[in-house]
Amino acid sequence: MAVDLDAPADTNMMRIVHAALRRDLERARTALTAASPPAEHQRIALARHLGWMMAFLEAHHRSEDEGLYPPIHERAPDAAVLLCDMARDHASVAGAVAAVETTAHRYEECDDREALIAALDGLRDVLLPHLQREEDELMPVVSRVMTTGEWNAIEQAHNLAGKSKAQLAREGHWLIDGASPDDRARVLGLVPLVPRLILLYGFGPSYRRHQRTCWNMRRHHVQHEGSTSVVVEADLDAVWDIVRDPTRVGEWSHECVGAEWVGATGAHPGARFRGRNRQGLLRWGRLCEVVRIEPGELVWRTVPTRLYPDSTEWAIRVDRVDAGTRIEQSFRVVKGTWLEPVYARLLPAHHERTAALTNDLERIGALAAGRRDPRASITRRTEGASRDAVA
Ligand SMILES: [Fe+2]
Ligand SMILES: [Fe+2]
Repeated sequence: MAVDLDAPADTNMMRIVHAALRRDLERARTALTAASPPAEHQRIALARHLGWMMAFLEAHHRSEDEGLYPPIHERAPDAAVLLCDMARDHASVAGAVAAVETTAHRYEECDDREALIAALDGLRDVLLPHLQREEDELMPVVSRVMTTGEWNAIEQAHNLAGKSKAQLAREGHWLIDGASPDDRARVLGLVPLVPRLILLYGFGPSYRRHQRTCWNMRRHHVQHEGSTSVVVEADLDAVWDIVRDPTRVGEWSHECVGAEWVGATGAHPGARFRGRNRQGLLRWGRLCEVVRIEPGELVWRTVPTRLYPDSTEWAIRVDRVDAGTRIEQSFRVVKGTWLEPVYARLLPAHHERTAALTNDLERIGALAAGRRDPRASITRRTEGASRDAVA
């Protein structure tokens, strides 16, 4: 499809880049805080990946400082304060990035996890609000005063020019890792057909090897535990109203399309509900049970049955923070099954679930704030499956 270069700037790439940064910060935290710490080969791969990611983030901010912000400053005088805040954020982020670089380098040499976790938390504290504000407040200004042609030219000059094919391929695979089909198509659509095929099939295996080592994914296994969190600009009570009712899960889950109470009318320990799930052509239902509910926290588990003998415990916790509400979701397989290799083959999205689960939490925030956010649109993966399939 021909791109209208005179149309208002399509800033989706900014959101896609930010999503990849958020995703791997969550993955890194999950890996570093897991009950069994990364073995040596994972530790080295993780440390090097964080070093690569920090260099990418520095380059991303440099391209904004030098390529994007100056023309916006000129054309949108009303955005002067916002741009000033953005530049100040970049300075704070630079300090936090340096701390992650130092501690990641040390982590590569020896298992000093605590220092790296603290540095990553420090980075998250300054980076995540910046990414959100840039998307929510600055990108609409960019679309107002800049065309897609001008946006693409900045992208070419500051983010693509001078990079080797291997560098571009790694960045491309990193951006589409766990992305929705729409975002994957957006990234791949930037590459002409032949280079796209080389990117996908020539560089794909090495990225997947790197991914498996870094995040300890095994070919025919599913992720057994994980957690992710977001801070949303929404009222705590509005978020909790959505979260505390498991029958509303279909409104925000990328996999569960609906749920109904089974012999219960509300959430209390022991109350059961059945979730209906869909991924591509696959459809299935799982019986679930509320384990615990108290203000701000809901815990439930999938009930093992003859057909689905596994069980996973899920928890969602909400807390009020300065910027709005923090939503944290975690899961842990509490009963495995010999069917796991089958699940893993049918549902490759369950090899690593951080990106999809983070998007779910963003959708809860958007629902609670009463807005429809393009980032929050539900995209049903063709390759994935429900939390309830193996969880
Ligand atoms: Fe950005
Ligand atoms: Fe930025």
